[in-house]
Formats: sequence, structure tokens, C-alpha cells
Amino acid sequence: MAQKHTVRLEPVGIEFEVGEEETILDGAFRQGLMLMHGCKEGQCSACKSFVLEGDDIELDRYSTFALPDYEKEEGFTLLCRAHVYEDVTIELVNYDEDMIRSGLPIQQAVAEVAAIERVTHDLRHLVLRLVEPAELKFFPGQYVDIAIPGTDATRSFSMANTSSRDSGQLEFVIKVYPDGLFSNFLDTGLAVGDRLDLTGPFGVFTLREGYETDLLFVGGGAGMAPILSLLRSMAERGIQRKATYYYGARGRRDLCFEADLRELEDRLPGFRYVPALSEPSADDAWDGEVGFVTDVVNRYENDLKNAHAYVCGPPPMVEAAMPLLIGLGVPQKRIYYDKFTTTGGEEAS
Ligand SMILES: Cc1cc2nc3c(=O)[nH]c(=O)nc-3n(C[C@H](O)[C@H](O)[C@H](O)COP(=O)(O)OP(=O)(O)OC[C@H]3O[C@@H](n4cnc5c(N)ncnc54)[C@H](O)[C@@H]3O)c2cc1C
Ligand code: FES
Repeated sequence: MAQKHTVRLEPVGIEFEVGEEETILDGAFRQGLMLMHGCKEGQCSACKSFVLEGDDIELDRYSTFALPDYEKEEGFTLLCRAHVYEDVTIELVNYDEDMIRSGLPIQQAVAEVAAIERVTHDLRHLVLRLVEPAELKFFPGQYVDIAIPGTDATRSFSMANTSSRDSGQLEFVIKVYPDGLFSNFLDTGLAVGDRLDLTGPFGVFTLREGYETDLLFVGGGAGMAPILSLLRSMAERGIQRKATYYYGARGRRDLCFEADLRELEDRLPGFRYVPALSEPSADDAWDGEVGFVTDVVNRYENDLKNAHAYVCGPPPMVEAAMPLLIGLGVPQKRIYYDKFTTTGGEEAS
């Protein structure tokens, strides 16, 4: 049996045991510790941390975009890829002490497809009903990994609903890629009544409680899903913080859940939904905001020192939003993001 070693996390002073066969991140999940992470596949860098003590660490395949060679040489590592063969001390670079111990148990579940709806030309609304166990609790903004039948592969998808309203159901917004392993199967092979295996919940894109600060949401594409979940949970719980949701799309045909968002505007007095189209066509007859979503945020916001920002969508959008939000005054540690990295075309080393 593989040996276990102790991982000590600084500056939080938490120690836990990790087996050689599992990554530090998986060992932490197994023990209910929710460390900062995103893709869990060495692609997004959300789990990047610094090795203070210990040399015997090996990394599974990762992208050098997430961990460039010079950073690895300086002592940085990716917790989602790192296996340890001796006791180590790790300094967390990104951490949120409240989140670390808030982890819900990670469960394996089987769910049945209840509905697949086309919400735009390339986005699908997938609804799953849990079979075993019958309920899965998650924080709004979290995701699960869905196994692709007949393969060893999984894909991560964020819930668009809340488990406080219905913990027996999981709703997703999924972008269809023509050659996408899961999404193509969703579009052409998956039917109501079929069963899927899933694991979760994962993710730290959750609403930080105990603040009255303004909220800024920036989304694009399927990034709609976790932001809808966060807004729905605010409406359910009567959270009245001033909130603006900038959603970027190309044309009118890319907009979705508009009725739900307008209804959320009615239920949340401080909430405003601002769709922005980067390439509206003449047929769109669009009189709303035009431009990249980041340009529209820049046009309307000038002082975000007292705001918390939540950014979710394709990696280029998230990467464009980060410096903009910092420039507008959002404290860096108050910018929460999920990059929807894809697995298929990864550049790994
Ligand atoms: C934390 C997190 C949450 C996420 N939540 C969501 C969500 O709510 N909704 C959502 O839609 N997505 C989400 N994603 C992304 C999702 O997990 C999948 O990566 C995405 O849906 C693509 O999966 P796929 O199997 O359909 O496509 P893949 O097979 O992974 O392919 C993706 C793209 O890469 C291309 N490709 C495939 N193989 C290659 C290759 N060898 N070389 C070059 N290109 C290639 C494909 O043509 C396609 O364009 C999330 C990702 C993360 C990390
Ligand atoms: S979670 Fe480790 S690189 Fe994305």
C-alpha cells in the first residue's frame, strides 16, 4: 500500500495526511478541506502554491501556462497535480480561511437526465434528477464532475440552480463544441432517462457572507450557470446587496435566461442585469450595450473599491476582466473567478 505523508499548510497552520497515489488537492478534499482550485487538471493555476519545505514532489501532466518553468524552479507547485513522497510544508498563495473548513463532503452520485433544452444555438440547459443518493448539497456557484459514458474522462459543469430550493435536482448550462467529447454526446447521444455518474461538489466560486459590499458579476457563455445560481440564492435568501451583472455575448441569438434575469431584477431591488453584445447584426435591432463586456464594465464603473467581483466564463474573458477590475479598485483578493478551461485541446507538458 502506498505510503502517507504529512502536508502542513501555511500560514493557516493546518496539517493533513496525503497518500502517494493521490494529489495534495484530492487528499485535502477527502478530508473535507476546500483549498483554492478551479480546473483540477493543471490548466488554470488557481491552486498554485509555494513549497516551503520538502523536495520529493512529483507533478502529473500540467500546462506550462498554469505553471511556467521559471516559477517551478522558484519553488511554486500546482496542488491539483502534486504527489508528495515525504512530509512537506506548503505556503498557500491564494486562500480564504473561511472556505477551507467550509467544505461539503465530496460524493459520488448517479443521476438521471430529466430534460435537455436548447437555450441558444450552442447552449443547452441540462436538468438531472439525482437517483443515488437522492440529494446532493452544494453551495451556489459550485460544480460537479460528470463522467463521460464509455470513457475514463470527466468534464466539470457548474450548477445553475440552488440546492436549498431542490437538493434532488442539478441544472446546468452547457456549451456545445462541435467536436467536444461530452457536449457533442449531450447534443447527439444523451436522452431523457439516461443515467450519468458524477462527483462533487467542488469549487470556491461561492458568495462570501458577512459583507454588505456591492457585487459585480461579469459573465460570458456558459459562465451564466454559476452566476444564475448565486443570484437565485440571493433572491431565495433575501440578500439585498447592490448587484450588477454584465453578461457578454456576440449577438442577440447568444442571450439566454433573459426572462429569469428580468424576474430576478423584480425580486432583488438592488440588482441590475446588463447584457452587452460585441457583434450585434442589423437583424438584432439591438438598442442595448455594444462592445466587449469588459469595455462595457469600464464605461459604467469607475470606483469599485468597495465591491466584490465574481467573474466566470471562457479563460480569455476572465483574463481580460482581472486587470480591469483591479484597475477599477476591486481588491485582488475580492475578485472570485472560475475559468471554464477545456480539456480537449490542452497544451500539457
Ligand atoms: C471549474 C469548471 C467549471 C466549468 N463549468 C462549465 C459549465 O458550467 N458549462 C460549460 O459548458 N462548461 C463548463 N466548463 C468547461 C467544461 O468542463 C468542458 O471543458 C467543456 O464543456 C468542453 O468539454 P467537451 O468534452 O464538450 O469538449 P472537449 O472534448 O474537451 O473539447 C473542447 C474543445 O477543444 C477542442 N479539441 C478537442 N481535442 C482537441 C485537440 N486534441 N486539439 C485541439 N483542440 C481540441 C474541441 O474541438 C473543442 O472545441 C467548466 C470547466 C471548469 C474547469
Ligand atoms: S486547479 Fe490546479 S491548475 Fe487549475
